[in-house]
Amino acid sequence: MRQIWIPKAGGPEVLEVREAADPTPGEGEVRVRVAASGVNFADIMARMGLYPDAPPLPCVVGYEVAGTIDAIGAGVTDLKAGDRVLSITQFGGYTDTLVAPAMQVARLPDGLDFEAAAAIPVNYLTAWLMLVRLGNVQAGERVLVHAAAGGVGQAAVQICNWKGASVIGTASPGKHARLKAAGVAHCIDYTSQDFEAEVKRITDGEGVGVALDAVGGSSFGKSYRCLGSLGRLYCFGVSSFAPGKSRSIFAALKGLLSTRRYGPIGMMNENRGVHGVNLGHLWHIAPELRAMLGEIVQLVGDGTFAPVVDATFSFDQAAEAHRYIQDRKNFGKVILTP
Ligand SMILES: NC(=O)c1ccc[n+]([C@@H]2O[C@H](COP(=O)([O-])OP(=O)(O)OC[C@H]3O[C@@H](n4cnc5c(N)ncnc54)[C@H](OP(=O)(O)O)[C@@H]3O)[C@@H](O)[C@H]2O)c1
Repeated sequence: MRQIWIPKAGGPEVLEVREAADPTPGEGEVRVRVAASGVNFADIMARMGLYPDAPPLPCVVGYEVAGTIDAIGAGVTDLKAGDRVLSITQFGGYTDTLVAPAMQVARLPDGLDFEAAAAIPVNYLTAWLMLVRLGNVQAGERVLVHAAAGGVGQAAVQICNWKGASVIGTASPGKHARLKAAGVAHCIDYTSQDFEAEVKRITDGEGVGVALDAVGGSSFGKSYRCLGSLGRLYCFGVSSFAPGKSRSIFAALKGLLSTRRYGPIGMMNENRGVHGVNLGHLWHIAPELRAMLGEIVQLVGDGTFAPVVDATFSFDQAAEAHRYIQDRKNFGKVILTP
């Protein structure tokens, strides 16, 4: 098999393609011939040496793939060779051949291509956890979505549209027209506008019902102040800790030091809540995740959700794929194809 390795921490240029023997599925596992792998910001943080969850280097990252099953292990009864599937995986997704527990695999609806399928698991599960499972977003509620044009951002926008909630999205200015076309009610250019002041202006001081923040650092505190009564803030990433393409301890430290601490008494009196979400720490509830993924795939199948794939890069262009995201060029998902 061919895989993309991170041999050492560094810029995008460290990524390299290596060959290895094909893996064999064990009990309860299936082997997938991968047609498309999703790129996530966590992969970039791992490459920079900024992702504590990543396996020790050298390693192969990647949380999701889509492809065709070509072998099944003992005890797997609900999947078979030839099935077109997607899978979440605890790393190792930058590969042309993946062995995964059947519990982490879902069959694709007819007509869904592999690139779109690989754009589903991480982005939609993360947005679903925050907006549906935990946030119970209501019709008419306002939702502040940071990086609304990104992978998770686009999934969040589609879930809000489906639920009848109204999105205020932050994004680089060049993405605003497309965001509006995707149903975002208000766009904020965080590069030139203070998003907290803008949210207060847009909502006449009322604030939002839900805020999704993966920027981190001082942004968490500002997003909290954007909440109205009964508002829920979901903290799920720290992309501001990685402003450049190689690790900056200074940026990470600055981010940590500017992260607000929350107290239960203050939250009680303000009727606001803060919740952390890390999909990568939920492997022990795989059956529940699989059920959510099943619902999501069904909503993709009936056209309610439409994964937005922006760009596809070959394995040999993996460095370009990472640069594309870090240069903030992506609108939706970036995919690698073997
Ligand atoms: N906790 C979890 O379970 C979980 C799961 C998935 C993702 N996440 C987090 O969610 C965030 C989004 O992830 P994603 O994979 O969907 O990525 P993404 O949003 O597609 O990331 C790229 C976009 O983020 C924006 N951005 C903001 N700060 C950035 C920075 N310092 N460097 C580069 N881009 C930056 C840029 O868009 P604009 O210029 O338009 O703002 C860029 O185009 C990340 O922080 C990620 O770690 C967390």
